[in-house]
Amino acid sequence: MKTEIIKFKGNEKDKKYLDKIKKTFEKGGLVVFPTETVYGLGGNGLDANACKKIYEAKGRPSDNPLILHIAENSQIDELVLEIPDVAKKCMEKFWPGPLTMIFKRSDIVPDAVTGGLDTVAIREPSHKIANKILKAVHLPIAAPSANISGRPSPTKIEHVLEDLDGRVDIVVDGGKSVVGIESTVLDVTVDPPMILRPGKITLEDLQKISPDITIDQSTIDATNKKVPKSPGQKYKHYAPRAEAICFGGNIDKMVLEIQKNIDENKDKKVAVLASTETIDEYKNCDLKINLGSREHLEEVASNLFDALRHCDDEGVDLILAEGFEPIGLGLSIMNRLLKACSGRIVMRI
Ligand code: TXA
Ligand code: MG
Repeated sequence: MKTEIIKFKGNEKDKKYLDKIKKTFEKGGLVVFPTETVYGLGGNGLDANACKKIYEAKGRPSDNPLILHIAENSQIDELVLEIPDVAKKCMEKFWPGPLTMIFKRSDIVPDAVTGGLDTVAIREPSHKIANKILKAVHLPIAAPSANISGRPSPTKIEHVLEDLDGRVDIVVDGGKSVVGIESTVLDVTVDPPMILRPGKITLEDLQKISPDITIDQSTIDATNKKVPKSPGQKYKHYAPRAEAICFGGNIDKMVLEIQKNIDENKDKKVAVLASTETIDEYKNCDLKINLGSREHLEEVASNLFDALRHCDDEGVDLILAEGFEPIGLGLSIMNRLLKACSGRIVMRI
């Protein structure tokens, strides 16, 4: 299949593009589109065949359910059995935006979306292009992150094409994803609601809506072997090809420990993922990537997946990554870093 790349121009041509995207979805085709978190690999969420194609294109196990994306709050009504009060409040405060919620699903949602579960994940993205497309199509669009299963989620069109060129009908170019990590997933079918995947909307943000909201501890404890509550948790994610180790604890000691690891691995191509504050400390490594400032964790989140992919492009053997304090957005960043490192963390307190 030849993949067509579309870039909206902000003029009358856009209407033609939107028509083409709409038709592609309606006939069961696949369209990659930008969202504020990461790029999504979209298909008609009410068409089981389109959903099967999504799993095939990603090489994803079909028991790992998909998120349905909508343009307007009212579209949720036919997809779910009930909207708990706390979800209504979250919709008001955080939609459109990087929050996905899990509801009890209605009969019109195909098993292919939910992996056979009786719940369904729904999100209303805030990205202008995503919203324009979802409004024009007026269908719930199933869209996992637009990467081959197991690779870091794509935050740039180059990442998408690396993984999916020739596997999808259309890729819509929307520049760099601002948030850079996937949406927060909040299960509102349980009481109290529980975060299954941390993201830009933090535990602290959600607790302002309802103080009893909790977080699944396995999202931050890489050694936790309990049965995952979200099927996505059991798969190795965000993984670069290189071996990766994360370092935490006291910053000065962490820097020394990373330098020691650089010095001990002279036979390997070593990359360090560091913060703006510490990057100049490292000597004699092959590649240094500045993730951003510890004072502005939004930068770090936004650059993280691009950094992991860049290490792969450069043929790096070993990635030594600085850790971040697991509070607020730092917790979401650590969740992704630990997955990239298959849970390997060295603490120097
Ligand atoms: O930011 C995002 O959420 C991006 C953009 C494209 O919207 N999408 C995304 O989708 O990250 P995906 O499929 O890569 O991740 C969806 C996560 C998975 O961990 C999946 O297991 C979980 O949501 N999930 C989906 N439906 C669920 C359900 N019914 N119950 C529990 N977890 C669910
Ligand atoms: Mg994904």
